[in-house]
Amino acid sequence: MELKVDFSGRSHFYTDEEKAVVLEVMDSSNGLTQGIYRDKFERKFAAYQSVSHAYTTMNATAALELTAQLCQFNGEEELIAPSHTFTASVYPFVKQGAKVVWVDIDFESRVVTADLIEEKITEKTKAILVVHLYGYLADMPAIRALADRYNLLLIEDTAQAIGTEINGKKAGSWGDFGIFSFHSHKNITTLGEGGMLTVKDNKFCELIPMLRHNGHCGFDYNRDNYWIPAMGNVDIVELNGTPVEVNNYCLGEVECALGAKLLDRLDQINDEKRARAINFIDILQGFPELQFQRIDSIRHNYHLLVATMENGNRDEFIRRMYEQKGVKCVVQYYPLHRYDYYKKLGLGEADVPNTDRFYDNMISFPFQHWMSDEELEYMTKSTLEILQELRG
Ligand SMILES: Cc1ncc(COP(=O)(O)O)c(C=O)c1O
Repeated sequence: MELKVDFSGRSHFYTDEEKAVVLEVMDSSNGLTQGIYRDKFERKFAAYQSVSHAYTTMNATAALELTAQLCQFNGEEELIAPSHTFTASVYPFVKQGAKVVWVDIDFESRVVTADLIEEKITEKTKAILVVHLYGYLADMPAIRALADRYNLLLIEDTAQAIGTEINGKKAGSWGDFGIFSFHSHKNITTLGEGGMLTVKDNKFCELIPMLRHNGHCGFDYNRDNYWIPAMGNVDIVELNGTPVEVNNYCLGEVECALGAKLLDRLDQINDEKRARAINFIDILQGFPELQFQRIDSIRHNYHLLVATMENGNRDEFIRRMYEQKGVKCVVQYYPLHRYDYYKKLGLGEADVPNTDRFYDNMISFPFQHWMSDEELEYMTKSTLEILQELRG
């Protein structure tokens, strides 16, 4: 069977106006990194999020690396994090010496809850990592209150949930750090790679541009000549008296210009994805063996369209969809504690029954924004037919 609906790594195509922005920067930009388009994207993004500080990065992993550095784990302190996520959510914190404590997800919502997190808090806990997986915004009012009550840092991995909100407050703006991805597969993508970091605390604002760009900064005295003693200075970045390592995590001007432009279309893309997801879910409601999370509100952007099938037919369903219909469903996200890498790090044990149950029974349908109505209809029809067939 030829592949008819692929689980593609590309989320959307670009409008002529968006392509024109790219060409314009290619032709006219004075420099192709760290210029006016970076500033524009950061300003526009901060305004979209209603936050004060936003910093572009080359991807969300770089934003997570910066966050992990700024948290300053002392080697004993703990990070509470879900095992049900993409590896880049957690590994940067491991590198910075955080002791990871796995927290389970809620089976229905597939994300962490305040109650589950609270069970894991000890006197060593320093920070909580929330991942709004699949595009669903976790219960941030409750989690923010919990973090405040225990005086913990709160980090939101918003790579998949851009544009979602609760009570008019956007995902990523509840935490002390908000991390965003513009990777090829995300609801908006800056040509394959791109990221953003938002921070609450003003004390980080001077540090982040230096950390992001090799420790470059200005001289702290007035110079007679702009080229003497050098064009710019490089200095140690210190936070609370401790040096923090620098890197180059900059995002190029073309990507920044495109990112700023894409913000105009973000809500529309999210709305279209949500409407399609709800329609798909509703058509399949006569088949309760397939369970979706149905959220017809701005709290979900349906970055991904996932379901569970707990009657033992999950693998047969995926196989038949692929072999008989050419529709490629997949299984995501392998719980981190099960990966060889995390086992070798000593993080292979986790008491997370909902995570295990969800992963072992989940199905992720192809759900790119570029899918035509015909492709979506074909996938819907194929799903109905295979479900019927499996009932025998
Ligand atoms: C939940 C989550 N966190 C972090 C990342 C890392 O994002 P990036 O590829 O932009 O580094 C991704 C996906 O790529 C993700 O899905």
